[in-house]
Amino acid sequence: MSETTTLSPAPETATAPQVREIGIIMNGVSGRMGYRQHLVRSILAIRDQGGIELADGTKVTVKPLLVGRSAAKLADLAAKHDIEDYTTDLDAALADPRWEIYADFLVTKARASALRKAIAAGKTIYTEKPTAESVDEALELAKLAAEAGVKTGVVHDKLYLPGLQKLKRLIDSGFFGRILSVRGEFGYWVFEGDWQPAQRPSWNYRAEDGGGIIVDMFPHWNYVLENLFGGVKTVYAQAAVHIADRWDEKGEHYTATAEDAAYGVFELEGGVVAQINSSWTVRVNRDELVEFHVDGTHGSAVVGLFGAKIQPRNATPKPVWNPDLEDTHDYDADWQNVPTNDVFLNGFRQQWEEFLVSYVTETPYEFDLLAGARGVQLAAAGLQSSREGRKVELPALDI
Ligand SMILES: NC(=O)c1ccc[n+]([C@@H]2O[C@H](COP(=O)([O-])OP(=O)(O)OC[C@H]3O[C@@H](n4cnc5c(N)ncnc54)[C@H](O)[C@@H]3O)[C@@H](O)[C@H]2O)c1
Repeated sequence: MSETTTLSPAPETATAPQVREIGIIMNGVSGRMGYRQHLVRSILAIRDQGGIELADGTKVTVKPLLVGRSAAKLADLAAKHDIEDYTTDLDAALADPRWEIYADFLVTKARASALRKAIAAGKTIYTEKPTAESVDEALELAKLAAEAGVKTGVVHDKLYLPGLQKLKRLIDSGFFGRILSVRGEFGYWVFEGDWQPAQRPSWNYRAEDGGGIIVDMFPHWNYVLENLFGGVKTVYAQAAVHIADRWDEKGEHYTATAEDAAYGVFELEGGVVAQINSSWTVRVNRDELVEFHVDGTHGSAVVGLFGAKIQPRNATPKPVWNPDLEDTHDYDADWQNVPTNDVFLNGFRQQWEEFLVSYVTETPYEFDLLAGARGVQLAAAGLQSSREGRKVELPALDI
């Protein structure tokens, strides 16, 4: 296939000193995450608001270069969103110094090879998780980037959810006393694809294509646990392919080879025990698609994507277990809503803004490829645990 490139002319004069325009290669922008979260809700939102203003008054603006395999799809996206630049030639994009950042939203399987090339080209890296399909590969990428001296960022979007930001504030304020345990419920029903189209891509259900809910969700659970409660020391996980018969995007039957549910127990540094159920085969009976219930000596909280409710110890009821008597106490009523005192940006956009500021101001960025490798490590350990039917320890990773 011949490669297609449409590039705006290089600017004739240098940009004014107070404006710093950053060219971003956006690879995989036709996909679910690439299009909706990274292009539309993050980079175009930043572009359309006129950039990000730094403390010294500098305006950081963004210029996307769309990269993908279908010139026709890219042309449509570019026209729809008033974007000048798109190409099917990744190598040429990487060789062009006008594009400083390489951002990757490809299917997981295609990621490591693209990141390797981008690091070799000296680009700053921003990528979806998981960063690779194996711990060795994820660590190798982190090492290559460190050796090349390129800054890296890995999506940690769940930390930016309003509910989790409220939870962070509760933790920081000392509300919980000593935190004892965390119970997470994530999931919803994904249709099989026969009598209703599935709402997730079919590769998610094929292990050979990088699918499976453990590879998808454990990297998230790793950074959520690590940043809120303590690093993960051990994992016990039970994976299940509950529904093996599924139908793909073309309506064709396939057999799922990757788990659609995982039931995990995580021991954290500091002694907190976390249990998280992840499932695409569960019908929702909660307020939100993900919820974390945190119990501490002084109080408890239940947080979701947006909401958070608390119950301090001073307002804790004293139930007495008696299965012979119907319990008429309204337990829901004992919880108090945490108000939304802040304006929360879309989480992907907030992280993009922080990454761009860190890049321009050359300040350390903690959610890097090594943090990403720890997420891959937890997924690999979860799969190993399920295969071997035992608890697996996670050694500290370093490069
Ligand atoms: N942060 C999150 O909450 C979150 C949620 C879902 C998915 N993800 C991650 O985002 C990534 C993309 O997932 P998605 O759901 O958007 O998938 P998707 O299938 O919708 O999109 C994948 C993109 O990769 C491209 N692609 C597919 N095969 C390719 C190949 N062989 N070579 C080059 N390009 C290829 C497709 O054209 C498409 O642009 C995955 O790594 C996934 O784990 C993250």
